[in-house]
Amino acid sequence: MSDSLQEVYHIREMRLEDVRRIILIEREIFLFPWTEMNFADSITAGYYCRVIELNDLLIGYGIMMIGPDEAHILTIGISAQWQHQGWGRRLLQYFIDLARQQQSVAVLLDVRVSNGVAANLYRQLGFEQIAIRKGYYPAMGGREDALVMRLKL
Ligand SMILES: CC(C)(COP(=O)(O)OP(=O)(O)OC[C@H]1O[C@@H](n2cnc3c(N)ncnc32)[C@H](O)[C@@H]1OP(=O)(O)O)[C@@H](O)C(=O)NCCC(=O)NCCS
Repeated sequence: MSDSLQEVYHIREMRLEDVRRIILIEREIFLFPWTEMNFADSITAGYYCRVIELNDLLIGYGIMMIGPDEAHILTIGISAQWQHQGWGRRLLQYFIDLARQQQSVAVLLDVRVSNGVAANLYRQLGFEQIAIRKGYYPAMGGREDALVMRLKL
């Protein structure tokens, strides 16, 4: 990625008016997408809802909830045409830094066992698998296990 591209991206708070665009991306990249209400509720609840923009185009988003000790990344997504270019890593690193600033001791997230791309990324950033939640996710024709991953801060 060129330096000029790096200069024009930014991460900002998600607003209710972003949700329509987010939902389009969400439906494109997840088989079982969140609803507009899920995103709107997360904003209203005061979770750390962020979007990543490139030249004012919203290309990705993520949501993190911070509890008394641990932070939980609830979702993260990058628009299909912008994937595999380092944007997911940047957004994830932003959330990790934010959790550290808020004195969290760890960041936790769940990932489908079949989602090797995401799990690779999390491992590269230092996340370790700490548990498996059996049948946690809906899946085509049944349920799918989740890996619970944790990054100690
Ligand atoms: C998972 C996701 C957020 C990652 O964002 P991204 O911008 O595509 O990822 P990046 O370009 O930052 O890639 C970072 C790392 O992911 C891994 N990765 C990326 N593409 C990969 C591929 N095709 N195969 C295997 N690993 C891959 C690599 O470890 C990569 O590191 P590298 O660039 O040093 O090789 C994004 O792909 C996405 O939105 N996927 C669909 C939704 C989803 O699965 N969300 C996560 C739910 S837990």
